[in-house]
Amino acid sequence: MALYSEKVMDHFRNPRNVGVIEDANGVGLAGNAKCGDIMKMYLKIEDEVVQDVKFETFGCGSAIASSSMATELIKGQPLSEVRKLTNQAVAEALDGLPAYKMHCSVLAEEAIQAALQDYESRMTKEDN
Ligand code: FES
Repeated sequence: MALYSEKVMDHFRNPRNVGVIEDANGVGLAGNAKCGDIMKMYLKIEDEVVQDVKFETFGCGSAIASSSMATELIKGQPLSEVRKLTNQAVAEALDGLPAYKMHCSVLAEEAIQAALQDYESRMTKEDN
């Protein structure tokens, strides 16, 4: 059996939603101290829905595929759904990752949740 699923290879070779959103209203960063990989997520949220999402990942192929798949999973979704996104869901959508590569999908979950927290803290500041 191949080490990586076709979906992982596809998202690694042709990552979706790569880049920066200049007027993002939620930005999150996640890193793994052991491997040194870093992922940054940009969210453009309007009416409690993720209208746009982009990412920059300086990391391994599984991290790139995980970021790409995660952006596809949350684009157009309400925040109530995005809050529930787990790394397991990202890995499942990729038809699995090798066990020692599961931490790569954790970066996607953490970067998105950090971006949501950033959005929420900006909203709180605006309200005050
Ligand atoms: Fe660390 Fe993939 S090896 S994110």
